[in-house]
Amino acid sequence: MNTESTTQSKTTEILEKQKKYLWPNHLLYYTEPLPLERGDGLYVWDVEGKRYLDFFGGILTTSVGHNRPEVVQAVQQQTEKLIHSSTLYPNEAHVNLAEKMAELAPGKLQVSYFTATGSDADETAVFLAKTHTGYQEIIALRHGYSGRSAMGMSLTGQHTWRIGGTHVLGIKHALNPYCYRCPLKMTYPGCGVACAQDIEDTIKTTTSGRIAAFIAEPIQGVGGFITPPKEYFKIAKEIVKNYGGLFIADEVQTGFGRTGDKWFGIEHWEVEPDIMTMAKSIANGFPLANTITTPEIAECTRTAGLTISTFGGNPVSCAASLAAIGVLEKEASPQHVAHLGKMFRSGLDRLQEKYAVIGDVRGMGLMQGLELVKDRQTKEPSPEATKQLFEATRELGLLIGKGGLYGNVIRISPPMTATEEDVAVALDLLDKGFGKISRT
Ligand SMILES: Cc1ncc(COP(=O)(O)O)c(C=O)c1O
Repeated sequence: MNTESTTQSKTTEILEKQKKYLWPNHLLYYTEPLPLERGDGLYVWDVEGKRYLDFFGGILTTSVGHNRPEVVQAVQQQTEKLIHSSTLYPNEAHVNLAEKMAELAPGKLQVSYFTATGSDADETAVFLAKTHTGYQEIIALRHGYSGRSAMGMSLTGQHTWRIGGTHVLGIKHALNPYCYRCPLKMTYPGCGVACAQDIEDTIKTTTSGRIAAFIAEPIQGVGGFITPPKEYFKIAKEIVKNYGGLFIADEVQTGFGRTGDKWFGIEHWEVEPDIMTMAKSIANGFPLANTITTPEIAECTRTAGLTISTFGGNPVSCAASLAAIGVLEKEASPQHVAHLGKMFRSGLDRLQEKYAVIGDVRGMGLMQGLELVKDRQTKEPSPEATKQLFEATRELGLLIGKGGLYGNVIRISPPMTATEEDVAVALDLLDKGFGKISRT
C-alpha cells in the first residue's frame, strides 16, 4: 500500500515537473503520458513498476534492446578512458567506427562524417551535395521527414512538422510514391510508376533545371512506413543524375538491417546512393549520426572552408555503436530480421483479415505499419482508432508507435534482437488491442 502511494506520487511528480519546466511542445504519447524508469532487452518499466514489451524501440533506435550488456560494457570502458574529444583530435573509436561503416555501406560509400542527430546528418548531406555540384536546389518528397532544424523542417513534406515558418529556400517536393493513396489516383503496376516521373516535372517546372540533390527515405518513417514500388528509386536516380544532382538516401530509420536481408534499406531497390545518412539504430540510443559518401564526392570538402563538430565522433557514442553493430552481426543479422519480419507480417496480414479498421499493412523486415481507416472503400483515415489502439495496447503492456500525415498509421519496429516468441506475444497483444477497440 505504502509502496503504491510512493510510486504513484513519483508519476505525478514527474508529470508536474514536465509540465512546469519543459516547453509545452514536447509531443508525448498517451492521454496520460508514460514516464519510463528502466529497460532491459525488449522490455521497459514505468515508474510504477508496470512492464511493457517495447515494439517501437525508442523510435527505431534501441537496435539491440535496452541496456544490452555488451553496449553497457563498451560504454563503461570508454567512459573510464575518454569521454570527449571533439573532431579536432582523432580518437580510436571514431576511426574504427568509420572503418566499420565503410565495410557495411554499399559500393563506393567509404568515407564518413559523424555528428550527433539525424537532423545534423541530413543537413551535412545537403551541404555536401551543394558543395560538390555547385548547385543549390534540392528535391525532397511529400510526406518525407528530415528532422527539426530549419533545413530538416524545410525538407520535410508534412505541414504538421514544418513549424515556425522557418523555411530554407530552393527545396521543392515531388509527388509521393504512396500506392495506398496514390496522388495520381492510379494503380500499381499499371501506373508504370508515374509518380517517379513527377521528379522530372518538378525539376523542370519549379527549379532552375540544375539541382544539387534528391533526398528520400527508402521507406518513409514518420510519414507512416510508406514503401515505394520496387522500380521507384532506379527511375528517380536516373532523372536526378540527368539534372546534375546527387541522390541522398536518408537511412535514419531504415539502416542497420531494419528492413531485413540488407544492411541498408535502399539496397532493396538495387540503387547505390551518392550519399547516405544514418542515425537512430546506429548506437542503440547514444546520440550519433553519420553522413557517408564516396571519397571522390567528399574531396570537395577539403577546400570548402572550416567546419567542426563538438560532439561529432564522440568516443563514447562511437564505442556504443561498435558494440551494438557487433551484437547485430552476432545475433540479429539482416537475415534474422528478414525471417522475423516475415513471421510478423503474416501475423499482421491475419489481423487485417480480422479487423476492418486495418486498411493497409506495409513495410519491410521489422519496420511494419498498419494504416487505420474508418471505411476500407473510402479509405477515410481514422486517427481516432489509432488513439484508441494506443490506449488499449498501453493497458495491455505493449508499446507501439504512430505516424502518417493523418495520424492514422501504427508503426511497429521492435529491437532487432527480438525473438519469434517476442513477435508472437506482440501479435497476441495487438489482437487483443484491436479486439478491445472493435467493441467500443
Ligand atoms: C528519416 C529521418 N531523417 C531524419 C530524422 C531526424 O533525426 P533526429 O530526430 O535525430 O534529428 C528523423 C527522425 O525521426 C528521421 O526519421
